[in-house]
Amino acid sequence: MNILWDTDPDALEKYRYALGTDTQALESAAMVARVLHDNVGVQQVVIGPDVALDPACELAEAARLDRPELGVILLRHRVDVTTLSQALRSGMREVVTAEDTTALADALRRSRDLTSRLLGHAAGGSGGPEGHIVTVFSAKGGVGKTTLSTNVATYLASVGHKTLLLDLDLSFGDVAISLQLIPTKSVFDAVAMSGHLDDQGLRSLVTTHEASGLDVMCAPNDPGDADRIPVNVVTEILKVARQHYEYVIVDTPPSFTEHVLAACDISSALVLIATLDIPAVKNLRVALDTLDMLGSPKDARIIVLNRADTKVGLRPDDVVTAIKTPIAVNIPNSMTVPASVNRGVPIVADDPKGPVSAAIRELTDIHIRQRFGETLNGAETTGRKSLFRGRR
Ligand SMILES: Nc1ncnc2c1ncn2[C@@H]1O[C@H](COP(=O)(O)OP(=O)(O)OP(=O)(O)O)[C@@H](O)[C@H]1O
Ligand SMILES: [Mg+2]
Repeated sequence: MNILWDTDPDALEKYRYALGTDTQALESAAMVARVLHDNVGVQQVVIGPDVALDPACELAEAARLDRPELGVILLRHRVDVTTLSQALRSGMREVVTAEDTTALADALRRSRDLTSRLLGHAAGGSGGPEGHIVTVFSAKGGVGKTTLSTNVATYLASVGHKTLLLDLDLSFGDVAISLQLIPTKSVFDAVAMSGHLDDQGLRSLVTTHEASGLDVMCAPNDPGDADRIPVNVVTEILKVARQHYEYVIVDTPPSFTEHVLAACDISSALVLIATLDIPAVKNLRVALDTLDMLGSPKDARIIVLNRADTKVGLRPDDVVTAIKTPIAVNIPNSMTVPASVNRGVPIVADDPKGPVSAAIRELTDIHIRQRFGETLNGAETTGRKSLFRGRR
């Protein structure tokens, strides 16, 4: 959980993309101190540009002694040398220009990594907890798999989670183009490492999306290479990836290929997408039946209705009746989605205040992050004392 200490009541919206939804906005030093005291789940405090430097530094100094794992990041309208040196002397981790939300997202990610290491549970493959694999699937093409997987993954990365997006649409993958990446390696290059893929090997195959920090393993450039990727390579990639990433999001082609089945099998959650048209609903029904047949647990499924407000004679209730499963999240139809794809910027970054981004954050925060025990309201307990409550 993050705290945003800012005197501007609109500040939370302004920095939403970088901060994510598990952020509490507070206006005074006293309120910040109280929440830090009561809440051991707070890991980062971002201090707004209009908060005076002295009380901001006092907070950082107190945190350095009482709660060294707490990251304090200062926003200023203009960063000068005097401010920078006073801030860093007080123990703040970074000073960022207030208008630069990408720099803030980067700073938060670095700070969160450091907090994680200080708390001794960094996802580094060194015996720490395994990451969560989430496969995004629909048996029908064009319903929004790539839109959702790229946006969920960039959003997770932008709020500080070490995240890998794997493009399993091996013949026609378009994750790279959606994020404007120019990969030099792809899933196909993992074939040569089969049987001895490790963290280093995995890292050599990913392309980083600089704006969010997301790592992406792209589909091969040559559609013909898909047939030359054995299914066990995909399983190996996912097993190694979950040792080193907190979240692994898998984009898929519109059919149950053997690679998709392997990914579903190893996933801890499946995002299944429908739209308001009969073939999409029928295909979702068939996909659910197939998953039942394969023994895939029902409670791992998250049903998303994309373009849920399209007026086409079929209503969300009709979908629920047809698939006999509740819809977790409705994502509205919006021209901002193709526009953002054409710009190569995920919608969660391109239009963070829009209803599509809000729905994607709801999907990620409530149905993915909370599912895996992240406590977004900050009630997380580590059995440790918090700032201003005394030392551990
Ligand atoms: N909520 C939405 N509102 C408007 N357009 C959308 C929405 N979601 C997705 N789209 C658009 O629908 C098209 C298909 O989306 P996307 O590529 O994500 O589907 P897909 O399921 O990955 O397709 P494929 O099966 O071909 O891989 C894209 O042009 C995308 O911009
Ligand atoms: Mg796709």
